[in-house]
This record gives sequence, C-alpha cells and structure tokens, in this order.
Amino acid sequence: MSYLAVSEATKQFAADVRALDRVSIAVERGEFFTLLGPSGCGKTTLLRAIAGFNDLTSGAITLDGADLRRVPPHKRDIGMVFQDYAVFPHLSVSDNVAFGLKPRKVSPADTKRRVEDALAAVRLTALARRLPAAMSGGQQQRIGIARAMVINPRLLLMDEPLSNLDAKLRVELREEIRDIQKKIDIASIYVTHDQEEALAISDRICVMGAGHVEQIGTPQEIYGDPRTLFVARFVGTLNTLADGPPLHALLEALHLAHDGRAASARTWTARPERLTLGEAGAGAAALPGTVTKYTYLGREAQVQVATDLGPLVVQVANPGPVSARRTGEKVSVGVRRESLMAFDAGGARVDTARPAP
Ligand SMILES: Nc1ncnc2c1ncn2[C@@H]1O[C@H](COP(=O)(O)OP(=O)(O)O)[C@@H](O)[C@H]1O
Ligand SMILES: [Mg+2]
Repeated sequence: MSYLAVSEATKQFAADVRALDRVSIAVERGEFFTLLGPSGCGKTTLLRAIAGFNDLTSGAITLDGADLRRVPPHKRDIGMVFQDYAVFPHLSVSDNVAFGLKPRKVSPADTKRRVEDALAAVRLTALARRLPAAMSGGQQQRIGIARAMVINPRLLLMDEPLSNLDAKLRVELREEIRDIQKKIDIASIYVTHDQEEALAISDRICVMGAGHVEQIGTPQEIYGDPRTLFVARFVGTLNTLADGPPLHALLEALHLAHDGRAASARTWTARPERLTLGEAGAGAAALPGTVTKYTYLGREAQVQVATDLGPLVVQVANPGPVSARRTGEKVSVGVRRESLMAFDAGGARVDTARPAP
C-alpha cells in the first residue's frame, strides 16, 4: 500500500460547486509529488483536505495505513507552506521557526537544536536573530519552509510557495526546495499552475482539470506521452493542425489516412520541436509555408510559419546565423509520423506513432 493514499475524494462546496470529483492519488515515501493544473481546478481543496483544514464530502485518505480523516489537523504531523509567507513580523527568524514547536511540548534544548538544523537546511543561519520585515520574499519563504520542516512532519505540503516571487528567484528557490526535499527525504506534495516548474522539480506529476485527475506520471511521461488533449495543451506548446483537405493529404502522405487506429482521431497536433525546417528527409512529408515571425532565444529559435494547415510554430535548436529566417521567406516544414499526436472526440489520445503491424 502507498504511504499516502487518497481514494475517490469528492468535495462538494454547494449543489453546483464540486471542487473535487473522485480524485485518487498515491504518494510514496520520499517522493516529490506535484499537483499541476489551472486556477480553480481543486488543487488547494485537495491539499487542505489532506492537511485537515476541510473535510471531504466522500472518499478516503490514509497515511502510513491509518485513516487520516479521523485524526484532527493538529495531530496529523503535516507541515504546510503557503503562497503568502505567513511569517510573524514581530518575531525573529528563529522564533518564527520555533513557533511550530510550541504546542508540541519540545524541551528548550531540543527546540534550539531543531531550529538550528531547520535554519541551516534553508541557509538562514546567519539571519537567525533578524526580524523578517526587512527580508526579501525569497528569504521569507525560506522561513516558511523551515517552520514546516522543524516539526519533523510525516508529510510536507506546499501550496504555490513561489508564486509571489519574481521569475529569477522562482527558479533559484525551486532548485533549493527540490534539494532540501531530497535531503530530508519527506514525502511531499507541491502545488503549482506553472508547468515548467512542475517538470523541473517533480518525481511525478498529477495533472488536474476541473476537479478531476487527467493524468499521473513522471515529467517525461506527462510531456512526452500525454494521454489527453488537455494535458498536451496545458504542458508545453502545441500546434493544432487545421482540419480540411490539406490535413487529409498530409495523413495520406504519412500512411495514416487508412490506418485503422487513426480512424477515431479528431484532433491532430504536433510539438514545435518535433517539426523541422528545410530538407524533409526520408519518411517525412513537406508542408510549404511562409515565415511570419522569427524569434531568436539563444539556445533555440521559434519560427512561426503560415501553412495550409494553419499557423505552425517550429522550434530550431542551437540556431546559428545560417538558420536565421526572414519574415516572408518561403520554407518547407518537415512532418513525420512520430511528430504527430492524435486525440479522439472526447480528447483521449489515439496511439498513431507507429505504423499498424
Ligand atoms: N470555501 C469554498 N466555498 C465555496 N467554493 C469554494 C471554496 N473553496 C474553493 N471553492 C471552489 O472550488 C473550486 C476549486 O478551488 P481551489 O481548490 O481553490 O482551486 P485551485 O487551488 O486549483 O486554484 C473553485 O471553483 C473554487 O471557487
Ligand atoms: Mg490554490
């Protein structure tokens, strides 16, 4: 049995507001598990149900085999980090961290040692006696993380802890959070609406949409093998090919038009990095087009091309001076069978990558 198991969790706030609809997740010991989804999809509601701040309408939650719904929140031994740092401005950094230990009857000597350890883990030792008021958002959030850690929680929950920080700090602190989590080795659930952040720090990701689970998998599975159109669109950039005769000609050229498994496909898509510019090569179809925009990003370039299948973004890796394109330039976009991802009318993935046996 999994360390944390949520099964068939449903939360009904009002007759017409079902924030969670039979959500099941399982988190293993030491795992960094992320809930990823757009605003309003139920991430916070699920986290709060695990922490005990709100109860489920129905469903079960077990931690290490015990029924968590019967344990009051303060006895669950769960550490929580919030989006707003929730630090006490009038308490020093170390008193802020020690605060979590107050109701737990920890001796003064133990408190001192544990606070020191937690501050060392988040690299705030030098600032222990300061007041948080004058500190940066990143430092305040480290106080929040230390305060959650100091109770030696059985589970660490983080609800969008980086969303109030600027972009550069967000990247720095997410790496730190990942390192700290691996070092203290606590099962953690991290909530974010930022797909890149989720891919960068998670062992596994649960993509949620409107109160339900869309897909659970490793970052590689979520990005490279999305099982639904929702997941494919939410994680990464996706070109959707316009329906019509040019699409049918393309499918014909790639031997997909009469492939039985492609019969239920309604939406055809391609990731920008799966398309090529220039010589199409063997096994690829060439789509003629005109460059409408060239964006150089250093490590890559994004080329927007107008084609008969609609506008397509093509990503070029390591673009040198020779691969620069001008607006209006005629190009050819190379598409392979493996470039395409197809989805049926209900948005479920149709497996078309390999030819029929
Ligand atoms: N206390 C509440 N009362 C009524 N509706 C709520 C309450 N909390 C959340 N909701 C609704 O439940 C849905 C999920 O909210 P939430 O879990 O906060 O989403 P997320 O964290 O993914 O942005 C939303 O439609 C939200 O408006
Ligand atoms: Mg939320």
